[in-house]
Amino acid sequence: MTPLSLLLIFSIFVLLPSPSVGDAIYGPSCNLSTTPTSIYPCKSYAFYRANSTDLCSVADLFNTNRISIANASNISDTSQSLYPNQPLLIPLECSCFNKNHSYALVNYQFISGNTFWIIAHSNYANLTTSEASVLANPTMIPVSISVGAWAKIPIFCQCPTTNLSRNYSAIISYSVQPGDTLASIAEGFGMDVSSLTEVNDGVQTDPAPFTVIYVPINSSLPIDLSSFEPENRSAPAPTAENTDSSDNNDGSDNDGAVIGLGIVVGVLGCLLICLVFVFCFFLRRKKKSAEDKQIPIVDNRKDNGDTSLNLHSTANYDGLLSGIDDCLDKYRVFHISDLRKATKDFDSKYLISGNVYKGWLDGRAFAIKMMKWNAGEELRILQKVNHTNLVKLEGFSINREDGGCYMVYEYVENGSLLECMKSPTTKLDWRRRVNIGIDVANGLQYIHEHTFPTVVHKDITSSNILLDNNFKAKIANFGLARSGCNAMTTNIVGTQGYVSPEYLVEGLVTTKMDVYAFGVLLLELISGREAVSEEGVLLSAEVDMVEFEGDDAVGIEKLRSWMDPRIRSEIDRLGMESVVMLIGIAKGCLQKDSGRRSGMTEVVYALSKVDDILSVASTAGN
Ligand SMILES: *[C@@H]1O[C@H](CO)[C@@H](O)[C@H](O)[C@H]1NC(C)=O
Ligand SMILES: *[C@@H]1O[C@H](CO)[C@@H](O)[C@H](O)[C@H]1NC(C)=O
Ligand SMILES: *[C@@H]1O[C@H](CO)[C@@H](O)[C@H](O)[C@H]1NC(C)=O
Ligand SMILES: *[C@@H]1O[C@H](CO)[C@@H](O)[C@H](O)[C@H]1NC(C)=O
Ligand SMILES: *[C@@H]1O[C@H](CO)[C@@H](O)[C@H](O)[C@H]1NC(C)=O
Ligand SMILES: *[C@@H]1O[C@H](CO)[C@@H](O)[C@H](O)[C@H]1NC(C)=O
Ligand SMILES: *[C@@H]1O[C@H](CO)[C@@H](O)[C@H](O)[C@H]1NC(C)=O
Ligand SMILES: *[C@@H]1O[C@H](CO)[C@@H](O)[C@H](O)[C@H]1NC(C)=O
Ligand SMILES: *[C@@H]1O[C@H](CO)[C@@H](O)[C@H](O)[C@H]1NC(C)=O
Ligand SMILES: *[C@@H]1O[C@H](CO)[C@@H](O)[C@H](O)[C@H]1NC(C)=O
Repeated sequence: MTPLSLLLIFSIFVLLPSPSVGDAIYGPSCNLSTTPTSIYPCKSYAFYRANSTDLCSVADLFNTNRISIANASNISDTSQSLYPNQPLLIPLECSCFNKNHSYALVNYQFISGNTFWIIAHSNYANLTTSEASVLANPTMIPVSISVGAWAKIPIFCQCPTTNLSRNYSAIISYSVQPGDTLASIAEGFGMDVSSLTEVNDGVQTDPAPFTVIYVPINSSLPIDLSSFEPENRSAPAPTAENTDSSDNNDGSDNDGAVIGLGIVVGVLGCLLICLVFVFCFFLRRKKKSAEDKQIPIVDNRKDNGDTSLNLHSTANYDGLLSGIDDCLDKYRVFHISDLRKATKDFDSKYLISGNVYKGWLDGRAFAIKMMKWNAGEELRILQKVNHTNLVKLEGFSINREDGGCYMVYEYVENGSLLECMKSPTTKLDWRRRVNIGIDVANGLQYIHEHTFPTVVHKDITSSNILLDNNFKAKIANFGLARSGCNAMTTNIVGTQGYVSPEYLVEGLVTTKMDVYAFGVLLLELISGREAVSEEGVLLSAEVDMVEFEGDDAVGIEKLRSWMDPRIRSEIDRLGMESVVMLIGIAKGCLQKDSGRRSGMTEVVYALSKVDDILSVASTAGN
């Protein structure tokens, strides 16, 4: 830690007024010794003006689901997009935090450029303060929060105490806007000023803009919010033709049919999906005992396709249900007949590999995967991740007749890295290979460091890395992936040649097993050979044979003859330095002791230095 940041931390604690209960910046106080404990937690609401057309992203922001927001806000059709500043009531669970402040804590993941101040003022529209956020996250250092860290954001709220003169049904937290008066706020919610005065510690004067005021309501939700409608909003609500909210893309590809379908499927669809997943799960459970005899490690030479599909999921019943949440409708729900049409009834001509078909929907190509087991865990993981180096899930479909599950992914033009390496026509030059390594490392770093709970892919292989038309690499096939850390499993799955020793021996699942597989991938990029040779020799075992010292001419010559002949002339031009560095990184990833193995952050950093050296070498060469 630098002296400057220490100084900043110091000044934050010294310059901030010391916290005292009741200080408005820390939110409403609650006192469990004077109120019956039965009051907390209670259901409360936050008044929030939509800052996105996507109800799901608002729901994500407040860790709730869009149906509850729609119920409370009188939105009958959740598939319609929101209009700017649409008034919403967000249901919250209000509790007495630290026995002195009543907050609804919501989890928020820091993105680049965030500070507690920005989050409080802009993301959460002043429904909290940065001071309260700092207080609620005592272990976080406000000046040095890393991107991807999770914070608990305390949304101010109140519960109706028994001491009030009337029985209120709930209390709404409202962030005062310039021009608001006590009377206008009360009127907007259909209440009288005296009820506001009573709940807000006897306040008589108009509250300051951007402070939070608590508005009790005495009727059940939804209430009439029409007085909060933005002034110039054109009367008719957006219609299904010109909106596309079931799709969290940029919304450029509108498709009436799919949206219409989404509307029909709507709420019932979600229920049905849950049921189908449960059904799939039980079906699999029945088959499972028979499958247990199956050879657990798949040899990828026999089945280059989607090898992991032969293996079964260890997802348990509870995990399955908890993951299938309401925000699945971020994805497009396709009808099975659309997928049949897109692939000419799953014609083998459209088979890409394994169980993956290429299909055309609305003039765009997609990769459609038939799931042999339930898609619950993969959906659960993919709905949380979003990164340019991970293949994007676009939608899914359930065949109601046989319960078959289908996943629809973005189509990645150049196919798998394995195919490209084997293909005589695709030229993967050295810089391109290094960049593929960097892309994969970035994707892995994202799932390891920036998801919570951490995701372990468990099946990093060259056939699960896809290359787009610019040879940007994307990690595919989260079929084996697990979230949560340091799990143990007795059911060893994976692809031969990539499995880390500790996983093979002890069944230990950690991010380090992906690092190991990534090391093998680097060896493939350098040597141009597969993870397991025709003779069954593991590439990872060869790395020990390639012994060399940085300035040992014999060792470097050995490495030069070991590497892919197709890149030799390029390397002769650029120099061996980058190859030596890359093999060093690979060795760091292939450490037998997982504790000594590099982490992905370290790997990304080291690879970017290789890239620097290459760009210097290639400009010097030109
Ligand atoms: C609230 O109580 C906790 C201990 O329960 C204390 O550490 C904290 O300082 C209190 N906060 C305020 C604002 O008094
Ligand atoms: C709660 O109320 C009790 C009794 O009135 C008082 O002694 C205590 O200081 C109060 N606690 C807080 C955090 O306000
Ligand atoms: C929405 O409201 C309906 C009927 O008013 C109710 O049955 C349903 O449980 C509510 N859903 C949620 C998620 O609150
Ligand atoms: C809307 O939210 C984004 C972040 O989600 C924020 O950057 C932006 O400032 C917000 N806009 C308003 C008007 O609050
Ligand atoms: C939050 O409050 C600040 C002033 O403290 C104001 O500039 C900003 O516009 C407010 N944000 C929203 C979304 O109302
Ligand atoms: C509620 O009322 C009781 C008796 O009327 C009183 O003793 C108590 O302090 C009050 N509690 C609060 C939080 O005002
Ligand atoms: C609140 O409701 C309860 C019964 O639901 C009733 O006994 C009580 O008198 C009511 N209190 C007020 C202040 O209306
Ligand atoms: C709710 O309160 C308002 C005034 O604050 C009153 O006019 C209305 O009758 C009350 N409604 C119910 C159901 O108590
Ligand atoms: C809810 O919306 C419907 C029309 O969509 C409207 O008729 C009804 O009055 C609204 N209810 C409230 C409480 O605003
Ligand atoms: C409403 O007014 C805002 C600025 O006050 C403007 O940016 C927006 O385009 C207007 N919307 C419509 C539908 O007129």
